[in-house]
Amino acid sequence: MADLKIRNLQKGFDGTAIIKGVDLDIRDREFVVFVGPSGCGKSTLLRLIAGLEEVSSGHIELDGQDITDMAPARRDLAMVFQTYALYPHMTVRKNLSFALDLAHVGKQEIEAKVANAARILQLDALLERKPKQLSGGQRQRVAIGRAIVRNPKIFLFDEPLSNLDAALRVQTRLELARLHKDLQATMIYVTHDQVEAMTLADKVVVLNGGRVEQVGSPLELYHHPANLFVAGFLGTPKMGFLRGTLNRVEADSCDVQLECGTRLTLPLSAAGLSVGSSVTLGVRPEHLNVVSAGSGRMQVTADVSERLGSDTFCHVSCASGEMLTVRVRGDFAPRYGDTLTLDFDTAHCHLFDADGQAVAKPLQQAA
Ligand SMILES: Nc1ncnc2c1ncn2[C@@H]1O[C@H](COP(=O)(O)OP(=O)(O)O)[C@@H](O)[C@H]1O
Ligand SMILES: [Mg+2]
Repeated sequence: MADLKIRNLQKGFDGTAIIKGVDLDIRDREFVVFVGPSGCGKSTLLRLIAGLEEVSSGHIELDGQDITDMAPARRDLAMVFQTYALYPHMTVRKNLSFALDLAHVGKQEIEAKVANAARILQLDALLERKPKQLSGGQRQRVAIGRAIVRNPKIFLFDEPLSNLDAALRVQTRLELARLHKDLQATMIYVTHDQVEAMTLADKVVVLNGGRVEQVGSPLELYHHPANLFVAGFLGTPKMGFLRGTLNRVEADSCDVQLECGTRLTLPLSAAGLSVGSSVTLGVRPEHLNVVSAGSGRMQVTADVSERLGSDTFCHVSCASGEMLTVRVRGDFAPRYGDTLTLDFDTAHCHLFDADGQAVAKPLQQAA
């Protein structure tokens, strides 16, 4: 079992608050990803869980036991770092067995555990090599193997893929997802990369400035971001934002007059907001279409386009000067400066109030 409860956790360094009251529940066998911009406190939060930093206040509970002040070695957690932290003078085999040797585990048991980890991570042929004779990807697998042999209650990963090149990152990401299924283990994974968060997590925890912005499954966060920060952080390319004013509010729909001139009716319940209040419309590139002139809702000017082959991402500027990104077919490429007409998939538009909080979607659309 590995149920982790974090309550009102705070951490400051030299009087500066870094973790500002985090509450979080992590359930047995979950793959939880902490994601957020660099410096938001992800590593600090992970290190507090591991016991590598002392908390300033608050509680951490593992399977009902308070571990807030427990020594790291007694917590039964294993951490994998971005920098691998292997012992350079030891073989792979020795790197894998070292923690077990220290704990005086029996020789046969150590051999069995090392063999098992080597098999899972396909390190069998590399056991007698030293770390400098390994590629970056292989070193990272050894670092993960060192965690596996310890059979920890929770695996803690701090940006484990950041030092790998792009292709290897994708491959290792898949291997980690498979590892999670095979081991049926609880994993907490820190990254600044929202694609890693979306693809790996059962549960994503979006952090910003030492606070939790939102917790949910990847698709809950994609479809129902709670605020502008989460909306802008998750999704590639990013959601576009347009300023506007509410000019009709009904129970199940509302009208928004955008600064760029377009007026949209949205199937959203903006009850609680009054006519005249400032709002921000959010629309993802995949929920905008380029249509023939006259049939759309908004004219924009094409800025640069990024052609990926499968898709083209057209960056466009609106009459207000605000920028949007539109995802279109790969064979479509507007010229810089072209006038385009856009249509909005209004069922998938988001609306945020003046404080940046999401205006609720009607229930039948909850994905
Ligand atoms: N040991 C430390 N002493 C002082 N400040 C620290 C220490 N560790 C982290 N910080 C500060 O805490 C903030 C969050 O750091 P960190 O948790 O590493 O962020 P992230 O992993 O999200 O990039 C940063 O501003 C960092 O400078
Ligand atoms: Mg970090």
